[in-house]
Amino acid sequence: MKILIIGANGQLGTDLVRILRHHQVIALTHKEIEVCNHQETRKILEGHKPEVVVNTSAYHRVDLCEDHLEETFKVNTYAVRNLAEICQDLGIVLVHLSTDYVFGSEKKSPYREKDLPNPLNVYGVSKLAGEYFVRHICQRHFIIRTSGLYGVAGASGKGGNFVELMIRLAKEGRPIKVVSDQILTPTYTKELAKKIAQLIETGQYGLYHVTNNGQCSWYEFARVIFELVGLHPDLSATTTEEFGAKAKRSPYSVLENANLRKLGLDDLSSWREALEQYLREKGHLK
Ligand SMILES: NC(=O)c1ccc[n+]([C@@H]2O[C@H](COP(=O)([O-])OP(=O)(O)OC[C@H]3O[C@@H](n4cnc5c(N)ncnc54)[C@H](OP(=O)(O)O)[C@@H]3O)[C@@H](O)[C@H]2O)c1
Repeated sequence: MKILIIGANGQLGTDLVRILRHHQVIALTHKEIEVCNHQETRKILEGHKPEVVVNTSAYHRVDLCEDHLEETFKVNTYAVRNLAEICQDLGIVLVHLSTDYVFGSEKKSPYREKDLPNPLNVYGVSKLAGEYFVRHICQRHFIIRTSGLYGVAGASGKGGNFVELMIRLAKEGRPIKVVSDQILTPTYTKELAKKIAQLIETGQYGLYHVTNNGQCSWYEFARVIFELVGLHPDLSATTTEEFGAKAKRSPYSVLENANLRKLGLDDLSSWREALEQYLREKGHLK
């Protein structure tokens, strides 16, 4: 299959390029494609004629999104609408990445694909609007909602990832405060990329939640990182209110891989096993 990846040097993009290597992969970085340039994007897709486009690009600095609405919607919504139109016109399957931040109710059990979204911040609204454009414009699509990504490449849009940030702060001997009242499922991009590769092969288009299994708070995630790596920093739990981030966040945004399970494909590791694998691959474990 000829598969074009947008955001190929990002955290997820890097793993996708590796995992899809037995296909004919066209790996485009931000230098090679600007999704906000609608005409150029159409020309690039017309030129390559891929069978599948995977869009990992996003403006996802969640707190900055609150003040940068134009930039946020340009990348996460309008560019996605354009991609959906091009893919529909050219008969391309569009795989689009979305987020757990489309949810934000009082629910305390994992969200399924059929649950009603209720984004609490600008980022979530912009990503949900992008999803709707994909659903309504491009017939053959996969929308993949995931959460708390970390991967060997580090998020280029965020300058690293949570795991590396924790390890760095611990090695610098700084006190570390992490919120314990936001529950999620951290997800290793390598496992997510493998699942996307499998899903593409099924041809079972639609909306999918894809995360590692289990759940934890950011604080617990940090605690387990240090336990596995053997670091003993001054780590303490804090609250979302005390932390005072600009964007509102849901206290609970765990996703249930319900549609994957229906296909018999929900065999992702627990978040702890995935973290251990990541730490080993990054050389953090002896
Ligand atoms: N990170 C998370 O925790 C998380 C959680 C849930 C869902 N997601 C979703 O998962 C997807 C992948 O996330 P990630 O962590 O892999 O992100 P990432 O590492 O920041 O990768 C995004 C890639 O897209 C490129 N890009 C950004 N803006 C672009 C534009 N206007 N035109 C073309 N390319 C552009 C980036 O290039 P430059 O960096 O060079 O600009 C980068 O290569 C995103 O859609 C995100 O919304 C992420």
